[in-house]
Parts: sequence; structure tokens; C-alpha cells
Amino acid sequence: MAPALTKSEEPSKLKPTFILQRATWRPPIAVSGEGIYIELEDGRRVIDAVGGAAVACIGNGHPAVKKAIKEQVDKLSYVYNMQLSNQPAEELANYLVNSGNGAFALCGFVSGGSEAMEAIIKLSRQYFYDTKQFQRVNYIGQTVVGATTGVVAPPKGYFKAMKSVCDKYGALFILDEIMSGMGRLGTLHAWEQFADGIAPDLQAIAKGLGGGYASIGAILISQRIADGIRDTSGFWKHGHTYQAHPIATAASLAVQKVITEENLLSNIRTQGALLGSLLNARLLSPNSPLAPYVFDIRGTAGWWAVEFDFDDIANKPAVDLKGDSFAILVQQRCLENGLAIMGFRGGANVEGTRGDHVMFSPAYNVKEEEIEKIVDLFIEGAEEVYREIAV
Ligand SMILES: Cc1ncc(COP(=O)(O)O)c(C=O)c1O
Repeated sequence: MAPALTKSEEPSKLKPTFILQRATWRPPIAVSGEGIYIELEDGRRVIDAVGGAAVACIGNGHPAVKKAIKEQVDKLSYVYNMQLSNQPAEELANYLVNSGNGAFALCGFVSGGSEAMEAIIKLSRQYFYDTKQFQRVNYIGQTVVGATTGVVAPPKGYFKAMKSVCDKYGALFILDEIMSGMGRLGTLHAWEQFADGIAPDLQAIAKGLGGGYASIGAILISQRIADGIRDTSGFWKHGHTYQAHPIATAASLAVQKVITEENLLSNIRTQGALLGSLLNARLLSPNSPLAPYVFDIRGTAGWWAVEFDFDDIANKPAVDLKGDSFAILVQQRCLENGLAIMGFRGGANVEGTRGDHVMFSPAYNVKEEEIEKIVDLFIEGAEEVYREIAV
């Protein structure tokens, strides 16, 4: 019996699990991965078109990263960063600070995106406390909004306006680039393209920072904040046991070197453009049964979303979704057919009731023929689901 890929499979027939699962169906067990391909325990193979959750930015099993991790384990696996620093952490911090073209002066490490945002909120409070501006608040935005609304870029001028409000009231301008940053949109920082060129006072990064080889996040700190802290308390009042972990930082450094040395930002800009044009061509072609329901196809470089509209169907062929979300059904069917994408139900409108969308975020080293295969499998899965809901 194959593990369940969808909620329709019979749970009692599955092998027991002692993991408190977070999906309403049982995720199958992955045993190995190479590039964008994941092998499952029962021998099936899945193409990962979404990098897990926009994480695996160079795919699985890259030899340079495996080597760096093994070498680091042989040298030094752990020190506590309040007592001792370590070489890969120092080198990675140097790389990240220099990646901002003067925007950043310091970097702090954590173990993921949520920790990075928590650390930023605390650090901004520390900055205001240290500089005796107790009344101040912050502005926090995602440079390009990710999973919730499906790759929604800000209107031009939005961040310029927000920055001027921040300047007027002395608020910090903070960007969450946990999903959008570290190359996902074809530049290392999304603000280089999507925030009217305005660098943040504080920035959170994770996901593509470690590319899935390690659990790591970081906060990037501008000179203004660094000076405010240095001139007063002088240290970061924030600690986690695994901050600046030697193996995590060594893995992350190796991932970043691969992205640079293999010119992967250029590759993902090219392959992403292909992905976007194939999605447009296939979904909106005159003989596509899905065309009437496609509300929007949007994205850049390695990050794309297709939003469907099955609510306003007055002039469209009738469907019966039986209360299900089209995007979630397509996600499940695609996985059964050997393609991992992410489906989301709603969240795009103010009421949060619309915006059924699927998301693609393949590895930056994805190849042309893999993009074609991804689109083929996606269209196949989406059309299969459509045929089942059409009335
Ligand atoms: C924009 C954004 N911020 C924060 C997070 C939380 O990151 P993590 O899951 O690594 O804690 C995510 C995760 O998807 C995210 O997309």
C-alpha cells in the first residue's frame, strides 16, 4: 500500500506514524533527493517545483554543499556563540553584510524565518530603548508578498511612500524577505527590484539562505541601528542556543557560493521567464478548459503564482467544487502525478475569502527541460481536476 498522497486515501490502511502531522492527509515519506527530484519510500519519484516551501534553492544533494558540511563536521560541530564565534559564521556574516551594497553594517544569525522576525521586533525595540525614543513604532512589510496572496508585488512608489512616512515619524523601515529574498526573484535582495531601490533599516532572511541544507535565518542590520546599539548597550540582547551554528553557517556559505559561482541568479531569471511564458501560453490558450477560470498569472524569476477564480462564474461553464478549493485539489492531484507545488485557499481579497492560488518556486539551477516537464505535469493535474468538477 502506497502512502497517502491525498486526504481521499483510507487512513486506517497506512503504516502508523508517531509524528503529530500538520496536514489533513498523510504526507508520504521522502528518502532521497537529487536536484529537483525527490524519491519516495515506495519508489515513486516527485519533481519538486516549489523547493519545499521556496527553500531548496539549489535542489538536493549539491556536491559542493555536501563537501562543506562534511568538512565542517570533521572540524567543529558546535560552539555556543555567546562564548565562542566560529569561522563559517564570520565568513557568512561578512558575505551578507557586503551583499547589501552599503545597506548593512552587521548581521545576526538565528535558526529560521520566524526567529528572524521575532529577533527583528526585539532588536528594533532595543534600538528605540537604547536611543531613548520610547514612543516610536515600526513599519514592517514583505517586499513581495508570498504564500498568503501568491507572489503579489507592490505597486511602484508604494515603498517610497512608506519610507517617507517612516522618515517623518522616526519609524524603522523593516522588510521581511524570508521568502522573497536571497535570489528567489532573481536579485539577491528583493528590495533591489521591488522596493523602489530603498534598502531597509532591518531585514529578515531565511529559506534560500540555507537552501534547506541547514536550519538558518538571519537579520541584516543597517549602520543606523548598529550605531544606536553600539553607542549604548553595545550588544544584542537576544539569544538562542543554535545561533550562528558552525554546520548551519558552513552549509549556508556553501549554498551562497554555489549561487554565485554557478551564476544561478541569471539562470533563474531565464528559466523563470520560460516558466511564466509557458504558464500563460498553456493556461490561456483558446483550447484550454481552464482559461475562463484563470484570474491572474504573476511572478518574476523563480517565483510564480496562478490565481483562479471559481466564484464569479456567471458566464463560465458550471463547476461543482463541493466546498473544496480548486488549488488544494490541484496540489493533491499533482503530487499523485509526481509534481510538488503548493496550493492555497483564499487570502487575496480584504475578506480573505478569494484568491485560490498555486505557487511555483523551483530551484535556481532548474533546467529548461525540467521547466517544460513541470508545466506539463501541472496542466495535466489541473485539467484532470477540472474534468472532475465540471457539471
Ligand atoms: C514571509 C515569511 N515570513 C516568515 C516566515 C516564517 O519562516 P519560518 O517558517 O522559517 O519560521 C515565512 C514562512 O513561510 C514567510 O513566508
